[in-house]
Amino acid sequence: MSVAKKDYKRITVKSLIEMKQNNEKISMLTAYDYTMAKIVDEAGVDVILVGDSASNVMAGHETTLPITLDQMIYHASSVVRAIDRALVVVDLPFGSYQSDPKEALRSAIRIMKESGGHAVKMEGGKEVKESIKRILNAGIPVMGHLGLTPQSIYKFGTYTVRAKEEQEAKQLKEDALLLEKAGCFGIVLEKIPASLAAEVAKSVSIPVIGIGAGAGVDGQVLVLHDMIGMTHEFNPRFLRRYMNLYDDMTAAIGQYVDDVKAVDFPNDNEQY
Ligand code: KIV
Repeated sequence: MSVAKKDYKRITVKSLIEMKQNNEKISMLTAYDYTMAKIVDEAGVDVILVGDSASNVMAGHETTLPITLDQMIYHASSVVRAIDRALVVVDLPFGSYQSDPKEALRSAIRIMKESGGHAVKMEGGKEVKESIKRILNAGIPVMGHLGLTPQSIYKFGTYTVRAKEEQEAKQLKEDALLLEKAGCFGIVLEKIPASLAAEVAKSVSIPVIGIGAGAGVDGQVLVLHDMIGMTHEFNPRFLRRYMNLYDDMTAAIGQYVDDVKAVDFPNDNEQY
């Protein structure tokens, strides 16, 4: 396990706030299944996000919009069964919370009850404030998500950097304060200028986790399959690839095919 400043046995929303207060950066990665989540947890990642990016990564959809609440619950329950230490945050998928606060609460309750996840994440600022309050009133921790919010891709039209213009940056800063005031335990900031993200992180007492938001925030999140290089078409500037599993796996699988064809596998020791 990698070295942490303080050895937390189990990460809670309180530990994350404590980490921000102690200037300890927070590590977060996505996972959508048992086997990957076990590795991520054992490696010492603080927060596992069962992101709706499962829609792209696991199901091959172009956007995050098609994934359903039932599918998110399936992914989240597999992750929860694997973890001993990390906090598991589950995305509320598109269509499960936008229509009204009661629906949002029902969806969040289903996630908590049926998957065993520890918190939910939802995209948006003032437009989802009432839903956030309703969910929090039921005792469910909520993480916000501002900047590039992929569930609104058809409104934005592109996945380019958000909040470069003054008006949008001002709105984002107001939304971050609103999320803190509403009671969110953290905020993800996606693909915004580093200087703006750092300013937001300083302005709130809750942890701000960035993806493509620079180093001046309280922690970082990446999509696991991107950072281990299992995907290879997606190459944004903010992505650091720690491995190139796409190439390694292709080579290994190609070798297996060759071995089977050449009747080299199985050998005498690999049979009964
Ligand atoms: O769904 C997801 O993986 C996310 C991260 C990109 C923050 O929301």
